[in-house]
Amino acid sequence: MQKYHNIVILTGAGISAESGLATFRSSNGLWNNHPVDKVATIEAFEQNPAYVHDFYNELKPEVFKARPNAAHIALAKLQKKYPSPVSIITQNVDTLHEKAGSTHVLHIHGQIDQAVCLNCGKIISATSDIDTETICPFCQTMGMMKPNIVFFGENLLCMDEVDILLQHCDLFISIGTSGVVFPAASFVQTAKSVGAQTYEFNLEPTSNNFYFDHHIMGQAGITVPEFVEKLLAQEEN
Ligand code: APR
Repeated sequence: MQKYHNIVILTGAGISAESGLATFRSSNGLWNNHPVDKVATIEAFEQNPAYVHDFYNELKPEVFKARPNAAHIALAKLQKKYPSPVSIITQNVDTLHEKAGSTHVLHIHGQIDQAVCLNCGKIISATSDIDTETICPFCQTMGMMKPNIVFFGENLLCMDEVDILLQHCDLFISIGTSGVVFPAASFVQTAKSVGAQTYEFNLEPTSNNFYFDHHIMGQAGITVPEFVEKLLAQEEN
């Protein structure tokens, strides 16, 4: 294992599974009980905002109750102790990386504890329910607040910074994502194209299998701390 100069980590719902949060596409995944086209597209929000608000308002209590697991904690330790930059890009709308102590986490699909005003574009904290009668505290418009979650059909967030990170990374680690949603699923290809070593942490091989140099199968709460300890030990030698 070499010494790296720019480590980029992409996480998906699988890293939060051991914290008790449902993933999207597993047998009891979120999308099994709530079709994507009813709660996760901009068209659904425009046609039935109250139904979409209810879905995310119902999700909030369990997301906020969840605690970071050993995988989140290991990544926060790596960020603190590794001598080169360790960047975390997450598809997750929970804030378990931050609760574990990670900093500057790039939430490319947004955050469930925030809302965005479709009138003025301002983002507010939204730990309580928002609905079609919520008034924007900045422009005072009612009914234009939307969960700050990127719906299918919307542009991802932080992509300028993500592109720069990927172009300069020499270690790309993907943890707990099925690799079926783009553009996040293509990040490994960019990393490979610039010569990075690529690792996939999952319970099983994913559709992105081909692009990864290394596959570490198992529960992220076990495999990620082990890997972090190896990276840190390498730095100490
Ligand atoms: N350890 C490691 N991997 C795990 C664990 C675990 N304990 N539990 C589940 N996984 C893996 C599954 O094998 C699966 O490959 O995590 C992955 C979760 O895949 P998805 O449910 O598709 O979630 P994700 O890849 O994050 O979805 C991407 O799709 O709907 C959109 O916006 C949503 O951000 C989400 C995006």
